[in-house]
This record gives sequence, C-alpha cells and structure tokens, in this order.
Amino acid sequence: MRELSLHILDVLENSVEAGATRVELLVEEDLRGDILRITVSDNGRGMSEDLVKRVLDPFVTSRKTRHVGLGLPLFAAAARRCNGDLHIQSNLGVGTTVIATFQHSHIDRAPLGDVAGTLLAVILSERPVDVCYKHTLDGRTFELDTAEVRQELGEVPLSHPLVREWLETTLRQGLAGLKDADAA
Ligand SMILES: Nc1ncnc2c1ncn2[C@@H]1O[C@H](COP(=O)(O)OP(=O)(O)OP(=O)(O)O)[C@@H](O)[C@H]1O
Ligand SMILES: [Mg+2]
Repeated sequence: MRELSLHILDVLENSVEAGATRVELLVEEDLRGDILRITVSDNGRGMSEDLVKRVLDPFVTSRKTRHVGLGLPLFAAAARRCNGDLHIQSNLGVGTTVIATFQHSHIDRAPLGDVAGTLLAVILSERPVDVCYKHTLDGRTFELDTAEVRQELGEVPLSHPLVREWLETTLRQGLAGLKDADAA
C-alpha cells in the first residue's frame, strides 16, 4: 500500500515543475464526517481547460523524459478506491488547485505516512518555493508557513543546519501533537 505522502510529493513536484513560487498544502481530517481531504494549491503556470480535462489520462504529460504522466491518475485512482475523488481547478497563468478526498476509515485508505519528511524534501530542495502547510484534525490545527519563517530568518537560509533541525522538529512535533490530543 502506497503512503499518501508519496502522492502529496508527486503533486507538490508538479507545482514546482510548473514554476510555482508558493504552494499551499491543506490536510483536513474530519473523523466525525469520516472524510480526509488533501488540497494542494499553487501559483504556477496553470493548465488550459483542455489539459485539465485530459490530465487524469496517464498518457498526458509535458515530461520530456518519458511519455506517460502517472502522478495525477494514480492519486485519483487511490481516492476513488476509497469512496472519494480527485478534482482539479486550474487557470492558465494563475495557478492550480488539486483536491483529493477519501473516506477516512476506508479499509483501502493508505496511511498519510511521512508528511513532515515530504515537506522537508520540498522546502529544502534547490528550487525556491515557499510552502504553507495547514493540517486540521477534528477542529485542531497545525500550521507552518515557510514565508513567515524566511522573514524571521532574514539572511539565514532555510537550509542552515540549525534551521533545518528546527523545521524538522517543529513539523514532527506539531503533527504528533495533533494525533496525541486525538488519542487523549
Ligand atoms: N500544478 C500543476 N500546474 C501546471 N501543470 C500541471 C500541474 N500538475 C500537473 N500538470 C500538468 O499535468 C501533466 C501530468 O501530471 P502528472 O503528475 O500526472 O504526470 P507528470 O508530472 O507529467 O509525470 P509523473 O508525475 O509521472 O512524474 C504534467 O506533465 C503537467 O503538464
Ligand atoms: Mg507529476
């Protein structure tokens, strides 16, 4: 079973490939409503209406290295297997929003997996992109926006070892905190 964080990484990579300078990841776990919703919004180049219609077909890609694009079709298939779906809203030159929903308790729903590690990989990659991450679990919220962190840091880069460590601890503790409160 594939962790959902790997799908999230795929979608974040699409945003970075599309030239986004800011990406928002929203993970909403509504246990009472039994819904898990993952939303990724970017300010990248966007897609034409025609591309949005075709993009869930695995043979549609703007990749030069191979002729199939699997990121979005696989994410959509995972959502549909769990009584959910995947929707894409996009405007050329403005940006793209991908929304995937899952039945939270569905037996086939893969665990979220290492969301903190996935975000760190994107935040600390060579491409300059700001990530705004918000995770809600039954009304509680964890939020981290690298644009705000960057502003606090001034000249110090996010990749500085101490900042890196702080980011990792903040993300991991923040997420663990959401889950712990849930168990209590
Ligand atoms: N956020 C986005 N902004 C603009 N275009 C996008 C975005 N996400 C996807 N696309 C377009 O949709 C195509 C298909 O995306 P998909 O993730 O399914 O495959 P891929 O990225 O081409 O290949 P793979 O994910 O298998 O490495 C991309 O090649 C790109 O043209
Ligand atoms: Mg992709």
